[in-house]
Amino acid sequence: MAEARLGYPNLGLGVGLRTVHFPHILKHGPGVDWFEIISENFMDSGGRPRYTLDQIAERYPIVMHGVSLSIGSTDPLDFEYLKKLKKLAEDVSACWISDHLCWTGVAGRNTHDLLPIPLNESTFAHVRERMRVVQDYLQQPLLLENPSSYVTFADSTIPEWEFLGRLVEETQCGLLLDVNNIYVSSVNHDFDPYEYLEHVPFESVVQCHLAGHTNCSTHLIDTHDSEVIDRVWELYRVAHQRTGGIATLLEWDANIPPFEVVHAEVLKAKQYMGSHLPETKSSESDRSATQKSAVPHPLHYVAPEVQ
Ligand SMILES: [Fe+2]
Repeated sequence: MAEARLGYPNLGLGVGLRTVHFPHILKHGPGVDWFEIISENFMDSGGRPRYTLDQIAERYPIVMHGVSLSIGSTDPLDFEYLKKLKKLAEDVSACWISDHLCWTGVAGRNTHDLLPIPLNESTFAHVRERMRVVQDYLQQPLLLENPSSYVTFADSTIPEWEFLGRLVEETQCGLLLDVNNIYVSSVNHDFDPYEYLEHVPFESVVQCHLAGHTNCSTHLIDTHDSEVIDRVWELYRVAHQRTGGIATLLEWDANIPPFEVVHAEVLKAKQYMGSHLPETKSSESDRSATQKSAVPHPLHYVAPEVQ
């Protein structure tokens, strides 16, 4: 049996690093366990954002989460991109690198969106080959995240969980399991999210994502702009139990409240961990009210946030 989490550590409870929180983090050094950065926000940036990241990376474990690998695209792999990705990972001693099971562009254009791919034997062979090349280049297992989706394809023949499970088997990649994405897709495509969880190869899940979404009554949109809903927390309870403890991160990318609020939201995960409580250094528990405004553009969070 494969080593649990591919040998990667359980980092505890983390928060997505966002520039609006830089001053708070630098001033207060909050007791969050780790941060996840959007890789593209720092790959090309020098100056203050990168200087700040370097300071934060000296104090906290950093994980890199990409939105432009485009593993499902028919464009050739972008080795300039991979070179920068690898360099950044070395610079900040990233614990691991992740991206999404999706495509983000074609003919050299980046849509800044995480677009779904048809799931069939042909696309599986395509993604499998590209994953092998990418992992060979990075010299480490890459984590792939299950995306949220709003359409399915008539020529999809493989359930998403099986597609990901076979990728794990045949490429030795890891998984980033976004339980909110499972929930969003389950409502949009009318499947049972618990059945999805039944088929996840949990020994290869290295990280979980949690986030809020927007309920548009006929469908859900993965907006990352609010608290995690109870049904998603209940899915997380199962995921946590099946992994035996897993690095868990809250994504909050629009209507971003003060850092204490975001941190308090991820700390709620402790209530769903059963007997698998991790040893964390988290201590902040300010549960002040969330600042909400209008619903943001649904694709806001995938646009690079370089400032
Ligand atoms: Fe996610």
